[in-house]
Amino acid sequence: MKVTVIGAGMIGGAVAKALSEEGHEVVATRRNLEKARWLEEYGVKLERNNRKAAEWAEVVFLTVKPNKVGKVMREIEGAIGRKLLISLAAGIPISFLRKAAPMARIVRAMPNIAILVKESFTAYAVDGLSEEDVKIVEGLFSAFGRCLRVEEEHMDAITGLSGSGPAYVSVFLESMIYGGLKVGLPRDMARIAAAQTLLGTAKLLLESSEHPAEIRDMVITPGGTTIDGVFELEEGKIRTTVMKAIDASTKKSRILSTRLSP
Ligand SMILES: NC(=O)c1ccc[n+]([C@@H]2O[C@H](COP(=O)([O-])OP(=O)(O)OC[C@H]3O[C@@H](n4cnc5c(N)ncnc54)[C@H](OP(=O)(O)O)[C@@H]3O)[C@@H](O)[C@H]2O)c1
Repeated sequence: MKVTVIGAGMIGGAVAKALSEEGHEVVATRRNLEKARWLEEYGVKLERNNRKAAEWAEVVFLTVKPNKVGKVMREIEGAIGRKLLISLAAGIPISFLRKAAPMARIVRAMPNIAILVKESFTAYAVDGLSEEDVKIVEGLFSAFGRCLRVEEEHMDAITGLSGSGPAYVSVFLESMIYGGLKVGLPRDMARIAAAQTLLGTAKLLLESSEHPAEIRDMVITPGGTTIDGVFELEEGKIRTTVMKAIDASTKKSRILSTRLSP
């Protein structure tokens, strides 16, 4: 398909690269085009003019910061028509996009940065799409990793959990690596041991119907080594801390939508 990505920064660049690698024709825009030159290596064409890029496309991804969405929508107004408009901006409701693009087939989606390795979790809500359109959207999102259609009311919470999630998990990974260093492991060994452990545990969860507590209990031997580590984690209130992190990020996503100007 002909896809335009407006705002080829961190997430837009990942989207443009992933879709181009899947064989789509991709045009990406940003104001400072020099910073998007790396995308040309992957066959992505660059364009400065958002309106021109939107006119050319069949599908338009919106990947600018939430506070830039209104301005960009005004720029491309009239170029969207009935096209598929896919916004990845946190906290921007479909109703806001609908005002600027009354005829469009609108998708509000929240992926994460693991698009770069085709392992994103992308949740999406739709408005004005046929089942055929949904298949097209899922085809596009399959280039990012796993996707799931949800009701729009869940999008802020998804933003707080899996959109921001790679940041929380990175903090945990960094702590594990530091733990490895503390007990004398070489840096590279600690890094790979921590990352592969996280990957393996996530796979165990995804590929079975186990509750995480069951996986935890598979590792804990009574009186063994693991329970001493788990005891320390519990004393540090790790669960409350992670729950508070997701709650705070979700609330911020909700606040963003209340600060919108048309
Ligand atoms: N980062 C993530 O992990 C993540 C995950 C899920 C969703 N998101 C969402 O994705 C969006 C972008 O986040 P990000 O982290 O990728 O931010 P980012 O790296 O700052 O990317 C935004 C890009 O938009 C470009 N831009 C700004 N104004 C523009 C305009 N008028 N026309 C065209 N391009 C314009 C900027 O480049 P110039 O300054 O050169 O124009 C910038 O590269 C946000 O709405 C965020 O909520 C991000």
